[in-house]
Amino acid sequence: MAQLGSDLESVRRVFADHGQAHVFAFWDQLDAPARRGYLAQLRRLAPMLPDWVAGRRRAISELTQVKQAQLAPMPVEALPEFGGNEPLRESARLAGEDLLASGRVAILVVAGGQGTRLGFQGPKGAFPVGPLTDRSLFHLQAQKILGLSRKLGKPIPWYVMTSPATDSETRALFRAAGFFGLKPSDVMIFSQDQVPCSDLEGNLILEGCDRVAESPNGHGGSLVALVESGALDDMARRGIDRIFYYQVDNPLIRMADPLLLGLQEIQGAEMACKVIRKRDPQEKVGVLARVDGRAGIVEYTEIQDPEKSQIDSSGELVFWAGNIAIHSFSTGFVRRVAEQADALLPYHASAKQIRQVNSEGQTVAPDEPNGYKLERFVFDALPAADRVSILEVRPSEEFAPIKNAKGKDSPDSVRKELDQQYRDWLSKAGVAVPAGIQVIEIDHEYVDSAEDALTLGVNRIEDAAPMIQGSTGMRV
Ligand code: UTP
Repeated sequence: MAQLGSDLESVRRVFADHGQAHVFAFWDQLDAPARRGYLAQLRRLAPMLPDWVAGRRRAISELTQVKQAQLAPMPVEALPEFGGNEPLRESARLAGEDLLASGRVAILVVAGGQGTRLGFQGPKGAFPVGPLTDRSLFHLQAQKILGLSRKLGKPIPWYVMTSPATDSETRALFRAAGFFGLKPSDVMIFSQDQVPCSDLEGNLILEGCDRVAESPNGHGGSLVALVESGALDDMARRGIDRIFYYQVDNPLIRMADPLLLGLQEIQGAEMACKVIRKRDPQEKVGVLARVDGRAGIVEYTEIQDPEKSQIDSSGELVFWAGNIAIHSFSTGFVRRVAEQADALLPYHASAKQIRQVNSEGQTVAPDEPNGYKLERFVFDALPAADRVSILEVRPSEEFAPIKNAKGKDSPDSVRKELDQQYRDWLSKAGVAVPAGIQVIEIDHEYVDSAEDALTLGVNRIEDAAPMIQGSTGMRV
């Protein structure tokens, strides 16, 4: 008890010295177990406070600064219909297939976010996206990996990044589902770190009488977590030197796309990015550009006219390369960025509604943003890359993220896009879908493209069961 007391005083001093004494506001009302638990959190946070104070100050002031950067477009390997080089695409695909066949590629999904806009209870990866079954995002993605591994004749390891907000539920989900048929030793689940939230004045927020509010440190935290968790060492032991990176909310993901991996390989780049063509200057998507001479992302809020609406001689937007957060990294680059994370991956603030105690000590959910979550962005690694490859893809084939509960990028809109993709594959493969079929579900382990559908050698959807199922009604 005496030790707890002296430790308590030193912890109290650290928080007071950084203007955060209010975290002890309810201390006297806490019982012994609550004090012990809370002190453990405060003890963990105390050494981070100096960096946190500086980081949140910088992040909050960034919100009101107008960036004055020199922008220039970057070379993009465009789609063939926009003048892209088909033979180069073909060589890239072959180079990527070689990388996959020689076991040099790992798949990384970032699944540590809290999915606040979607408002789903539980990790977003558990969200049921199967139109006929309750197949989750994780399950669908596992099917893709199983299929890919089968084609390669060897497993392709899957690294699943969670956060303290999603870790235990994600692990339980994988266990309960028998790892969706993957070998548990080929799935590594690891957690990113959290960072304390800040109120609008830049102070720590009390989420409860005995808890400081923290949130996952952004998808950019993955680059650090890969090192700290030992995932990168695990990859090295397996002879892996490429990481295919994607976000858990996209069921259209073209898993470990050899085209992206191979383009990076033949261009000798440390990082590669997929982009989609922005047609409307007002579209809310960040674009890849050269920013003050280095590769980077310009957020839609940061690009102003005239650059925003600038048109080239062919009538296309000059800054059209919309970032969709699908990347490939060399592992050496990830290690280098992680080692310099404080300099390369600054925290960004975004205003959010954060649960907070009121003066009576009750936790309440505010109606308006009352603070900031602080996040690192994975694309902040871009300027540090020696070379960056950029590949244009079609959103209808590769990108439909579930972000919102309703409207654009919602479960309804994404299910429609998935359904359209299935119908496109089947039509290209000459598989007839009777008019009454409202809903289709495809097992991605067996069919993950039009070419796969063709290899089934069937003309009617009924003959492709159970790999392809159609129904006249929606799932109940
Ligand atoms: P988003 O920024 O869209 O966040 O994450 P989100 O958590 O899914 O949703 P909102 O903003 O709370 O509504 C894009 C991807 O990055 C992951 C998410 O899990 C998602 O796959 N992510 C985000 C992390 O892994 N960790 C984070 O700290 C933040």
